[in-house]
Amino acid sequence: MNNNKVYIETYGCQMNLADTEIVLGILQNNGYRVTKHLEDADVILVNTCSIRENAEQRIYGRLGNFKTIKDQKPDLVVGVLGCMAERLRSDLVDKKKIVDVVVGPDEYRRLPELIDVAFNGDKGIGIKLSKSETYDDIIPHREDGLQAWISVMRGCDKFCTFCVVPFTRGRERSRTLTSVVDEVKQLSVRGFKEVTLLGQNVNSYLDNEARNNKDFADLLASCAQVDRTVRIRFTTSHPQDLSDKLLHTIAEYPNICNYIHLPVQSGSNRILELMNRTYTIEHYLQLIEKARKIIPGVSFSTDIISGFPTETFEDHIMTLDVMREVRYDGAYMFKYSPREGTKAYKMDDDIPEETKTKRLQEIINLQQQISFELNQDLIGKEVTVLVEGFSRKSDKFLSGRSDTNKVVILPANDKIKIGDYVRVKINKATSATLFGEFKGFVNLLEESLSLTG
Ligand code: 5AD
Ligand code: SF4
Repeated sequence: MNNNKVYIETYGCQMNLADTEIVLGILQNNGYRVTKHLEDADVILVNTCSIRENAEQRIYGRLGNFKTIKDQKPDLVVGVLGCMAERLRSDLVDKKKIVDVVVGPDEYRRLPELIDVAFNGDKGIGIKLSKSETYDDIIPHREDGLQAWISVMRGCDKFCTFCVVPFTRGRERSRTLTSVVDEVKQLSVRGFKEVTLLGQNVNSYLDNEARNNKDFADLLASCAQVDRTVRIRFTTSHPQDLSDKLLHTIAEYPNICNYIHLPVQSGSNRILELMNRTYTIEHYLQLIEKARKIIPGVSFSTDIISGFPTETFEDHIMTLDVMREVRYDGAYMFKYSPREGTKAYKMDDDIPEETKTKRLQEIINLQQQISFELNQDLIGKEVTVLVEGFSRKSDKFLSGRSDTNKVVILPANDKIKIGDYVRVKINKATSATLFGEFKGFVNLLEESLSLTG
C-alpha cells in the first residue's frame, strides 16, 4: 500500500480549488494521504493559474522555494498541475529542471501513474487536453464545512481575445445533471449549507446524455430542489447566454441566491468588439434591466479590464459610466496583461503601464464608493444571513454572508449556531462589511413552501 503524503498549493480561480479537490480525491483512492505540512510531504504539487502575468510570476517564485527543499531532500517529487502545465512544460522540465511532474487539467486521472514515473527517476508528463473529460465519477476530497463548490462544466469556447483559458483548459464540456445532483445530495447529508456551481461559462452548460438537453436553468432548479435549506450559488455567467428561463429559475427558488456575476470587461463597444465579447453595452444594460424586473432585489458583480490595447481615455470613461449605471455590488478589476497564444497578444500592448495603473485605480475607487453607498442603503433593513463562524477579529461576534454575498457581522449569543440562517437588521456599514443585530431565525424551508406552495 502506498503510504506517501501529498501537499498541495492552489493558485487562481475557484475552478482550480475545485480541481484540487478532484486531484486529492484521485490520489486518496490510490492510497495517498493529504498533509498540510510542507515538511512532511513526499510529493509537493502546485495547482497553477496563467490568467495574468503576475499570477505566473508568483508561482515561479514559489517553485524556486520548492527547488531549495528538494536540493536537501532528493527523493521529493515536485509537480506542476493546471493551466501553466502545457505552456511551460519545456521551460520547467527541460530548461530550468525545477519539476518532476507536469500534468494539465484534463489528465489528473493519470497523476498516480505519472508520480510513480517520477519516483523512478524519470519525468512524468501528461498535458493533453480532452474533449470529454469531466471527472464526473470522481468523488472530490472535501473537508467538512458549510460551503462547497462543484464544477459542472469545464473549458471555454468563447475565445475572448485576451484570455488564455480556451487554450489552457480546452473545449467546453458538461457533466451529467444526475451526477451533479447526486453530489449536492451527498453534501446536504454531510451538513453543507451552501453549494456553488462552477464553470468558466456556466450558462453554456448542456447535459446531452440520452439527448435529454438539460440546460443550466434545469440543472440549477434540480440542485435547488435537493434540499431547500441549502443555498445555491453559481459563477461565471457570460452575458451572451443568460437566458430568460435562467432568470425565472433564479426568481422561482428562494434558495438560489439573487446574485449574478456578469463580467462586463469594458464599457466601450469598440473595445468589446476587439475583445470578441459578442455583446454591446446596450444589450448588456438591457439584460441587467430585465434581470432586475424578473428577480426583485437581484445584485450583480463584474470583472473589468483596464488598459486593453488601443483603449482611449473616452473608452475608459465609458467603463466608469457603465459602473455608475449598473451599480455593481462588487467587482474584480484587473490591468490588461498580454498572454502568449491569444489573439490580443498580436495587438500592440500600447497603453503605458502608468496609464493602466491610473485607470485601474479610478475604477477601484469608483467601485469602492458604489459599494459603500449600496451598503449604506441597507441600514435599517433586514437581510437573511447564513452564519459561517466567529468574526476574524473577536469571538464575541459572528460572521456570515447575505444572499447577495455581503459579509455581515452580528453579536454572538448562545442561541445562534454556525450553519443557522438568521434575520439581521443592519445598523452600520462600510464598503466591505455590514454590521447588524439578530432579529430571529429564518426557516428557509418554510419560506420556500410559502412562496412556491
Ligand atoms: N489580462 C487581464 N485580465 C484578464 N482576465 C482574463 N484574461 C486577462 C488578461 N489577459 C480577467 C477577465 C476575466 C477574469 C477571470 O480575468 O476579466 O473575466
Ligand atoms: Fe476567458 Fe472569455 Fe472564456 Fe471567460 S468567457 S474563460 S474570459 S475566453
